[in-house]
Amino acid sequence: MPLVNVIRGERIPDAPFNLRTPVLRLPLWVMLLGWTFRALARVTVFIVKHWYVTGPVAVVGWLYFKWGWAGPVVPVVVLGVAVGAWAYWHQPSFLRFAGWPVLARWRRVAYRRRWLPAMTTAGLDVRFDRQTVVPVLRRVRCRAGVDVLTVRMVTGQIPDDYAQVAERLAHTFGALVCRAAAGTRPDLVVLTMMRTDALVKPIGPLPVPGTPDFAGLPVALQEDGNVYHLRLYGTQVLVVGATGAGKGSVIWSIVRSLAGGVATGLVQIWAIDPKGGMELGGGTRLFTRFACTDFASMVEMLEEALSVAQARTARLRGKSRQHIPTPDEPLILIVIDELAALTAYLTDRQHKERVKATLGLLLTQGRAVGVHVVAALQDPRKEVLPFRNLFPTRIGLRMAEEGEVDMVLGDGMRDRGALCDRISELTPGVGFVVLDGVKQPVRLRFGFNSDSDISQLEAEYGRPQTPSGPTSGGWAA
Ligand SMILES: Nc1ncnc2c1ncn2[C@@H]1O[C@H](COP(=O)(O)OP(=O)(O)OP(=O)(O)O)[C@@H](O)[C@H]1O
Ligand SMILES: [Mg+2]
Repeated sequence: MPLVNVIRGERIPDAPFNLRTPVLRLPLWVMLLGWTFRALARVTVFIVKHWYVTGPVAVVGWLYFKWGWAGPVVPVVVLGVAVGAWAYWHQPSFLRFAGWPVLARWRRVAYRRRWLPAMTTAGLDVRFDRQTVVPVLRRVRCRAGVDVLTVRMVTGQIPDDYAQVAERLAHTFGALVCRAAAGTRPDLVVLTMMRTDALVKPIGPLPVPGTPDFAGLPVALQEDGNVYHLRLYGTQVLVVGATGAGKGSVIWSIVRSLAGGVATGLVQIWAIDPKGGMELGGGTRLFTRFACTDFASMVEMLEEALSVAQARTARLRGKSRQHIPTPDEPLILIVIDELAALTAYLTDRQHKERVKATLGLLLTQGRAVGVHVVAALQDPRKEVLPFRNLFPTRIGLRMAEEGEVDMVLGDGMRDRGALCDRISELTPGVGFVVLDGVKQPVRLRFGFNSDSDISQLEAEYGRPQTPSGPTSGGWAA
């Protein structure tokens, strides 16, 4: 029942108020003038609003009017050649100032056309007070293979609402993957639509830095083609992936990025390969210590690392909060190829208890004093939870099940785009890295070191010869 009825013809008897709008009698010429002005105003607004089309059309029209066909054709050809030359000679600036902005305008039209149905079917429209409020598409930016949409959320929404329906949005807009992240203001969300996958092709080994920067080791390529730099200072790294997911390539990428430091003595790598040396056995001269069959020596290695860490802590206490590696006191990286072999599968209970006690302390105390751990794990259900939070940096490669992703990377990470269970078996080495305190997972592909790359690395940066037995410098085979 209408509360107020504005009469345009007849009264509605049961409306509480009946208002009558005043009737003005105007001569026809005034009406015609009014309509003409209104039409002109609309045309002007249209021309100004779509200046990027109307402007060039007007210029071409004027040139044709003035000089006939030669008028528009000559400048268009000259402009085409100039733009082509710009694109050829300096592609980055061409893409930044011309290519991407033009593509973004084009794409924006396509996104706007499907915006309303997309928001409605994804349940992102909000009904309030008999009105439907829809998120506003504020801006579209393009990069290689990626569209970045800035969206103003409806009051009461949070970026996670968008993350939860990201897959739906990706399908609606024809993208491979969509990821949602908080924008620069609290009311904005940024949707990243991946159109092509830059990580489909394998990536060869990355160049070895002469002196490793422990705050940024080059280990992988990101979706945007930039090198991803892994921070080792102050952190411990857990790598999880199903069999054949490429855990080996993560370990070797990290070892490779540190090889320059191994050669100068700034870094010592202590390697534990419980699978009998299958993974790490190819580059043993890069390792100061190596254990692959004898569990007792693996446990001893961990205990010795802990005692080094504790000695350093005692020395640095009150003086410094971050140990700076030197050849006298190098950074020690303990690489464990299969963590569950030490924590879950080990049959000797005594050894198992010692590993658990040592590892917990090592992970917490080692990271400030230059004793770091990179541990790979195949099955996250095996013992990951007691240790997960002790690894501030977690890398998730291909996983078998959806539920494993949050178990390894942290709650809500799958919704935020870490689709580890969707990584194809054809792209080993692809994964997501999550840093403690950072909400957004980063997708990347690790460089692949073939057996000959590893031999070459060992020849160039390794120690002159392999120690001969378990007694030599604690080296155990
Ligand atoms: N980054 C990569 N790029 C391309 N191919 C890779 C990459 N990483 C691994 N591969 C390929 O996948 C195969 C398996 O990789 P890898 O041995 O590293 O897996 P894994 O996770 O260690 O498996 P497992 O748990 O069985 O040890 C490799 O032999 C190699 O052919
Ligand atoms: Mg392996």
